[in-house]
Amino acid sequence: MMRSKNIWGEDAEIFRPERWLEADETQLKLMNSVVELNFGSGKYQCLGKTIAFMELNKIFVEVSTQDQINLMHTLMNLPASETL
Ligand code: HEM
Repeated sequence: MMRSKNIWGEDAEIFRPERWLEADETQLKLMNSVVELNFGSGKYQCLGKTIAFMELNKIFVEVSTQDQINLMHTLMNLPASETL
């Protein structure tokens, strides 16, 4: 499901966090519910889910400026035209 084109779009195979900014409300709801599945569900779901999301969300603050995105392109040796 984490690579499903129906959920993530035709470019599901590539790491492109911008998809979260472009999604409309319905799409965002669907994407969020699929991400939640990574943590299991019901009685035995991950007890650290809230902490994990808190840690993961820090990434977006750290990588929030275009300069930092450009830097990541350089570090990852990607052409500027390619999305991260
Ligand atoms: C991206 C990060 C994480 C992912 C994807 C993840 C995923 C999972 C999954 C799939 C399970 C098994 C659920 C099941 O048995 O159905 C689990 C269990 C668990 N996780 Fe995580 N986890 C993450 C981070 C964390 C963190 C940061 C903590 C603690 C601070 C944590 C604590 C636990 C504990 C204690 C369980 C066992 C729950 C139980 O069996 O009752 N996890 N996690």
